[in-house]
Amino acid sequence: MFRLMRERPQDEPEVEWLYDTCFAPGRTALSSYRLREGVDPVAELCLMARDEFDAVVAAIRYWPVRVGEAGTPALLLGPVAVHHTRQGEGLAATLIGTTLETAAELGWTRVALVGDEPYYRRFGFTRALGEGLVMPPPTNPARVLGRELAPGGWDGVSGEVRGWTE
Ligand SMILES: CC(C)(COP(=O)(O)OP(=O)(O)OC[C@H]1O[C@@H](n2cnc3c(N)ncnc32)[C@H](O)[C@@H]1OP(=O)(O)O)[C@@H](O)C(=O)NCCC(=O)NCCS
Repeated sequence: MFRLMRERPQDEPEVEWLYDTCFAPGRTALSSYRLREGVDPVAELCLMARDEFDAVVAAIRYWPVRVGEAGTPALLLGPVAVHHTRQGEGLAATLIGTTLETAAELGWTRVALVGDEPYYRRFGFTRALGEGLVMPPPTNPARVLGRELAPGGWDGVSGEVRGWTE
């Protein structure tokens, strides 16, 4: 049994603990974290799941970013993580599917992420839509993926991906 809920400020230590547990040490040194520095995540899209013992077992966050010289707004999906004892139960799929729907309802039209294409393609993310995006170095370009939330969402949008306030 899982309860999905929005992450609240008081949940932050538990969510950070989950991310520390699920990712390799030094995760915050990853280049994508530079896009998040000093910027609040999109609160409506930060979801977590608590299990029957009230433990946080899955979480997802999104940040707003800007793309190209025009500074076109886009969403950056991630981090998303599921505790290793709960993987393979569809929790990440639920978090990703639910939040992508909410993002579209909120009027966002494009999402990018840095991740494994073999996993994210089931949610409609493609390398083709991420091809024109330049993430902060060092980022493996093959891991930069994009997804439209509205038809043509990425049309004509390309270039350097920057933090929201840069
Ligand atoms: C990736 C992650 C979020 C998936 O969570 P989950 O709740 O187990 O995912 P789901 O149950 O929705 O999907 C499980 C399926 O995804 C597959 N999968 C998981 N990671 C994958 C990857 N990197 N590449 C390809 N497939 C992957 C599983 O093999 C499984 O396949 P199946 O449905 O054919 O059995 C989780 O494994 C995790 O937290 N990993 C560590 C942190 C991480 O890497 N986060 C993603 C950063 S890009």
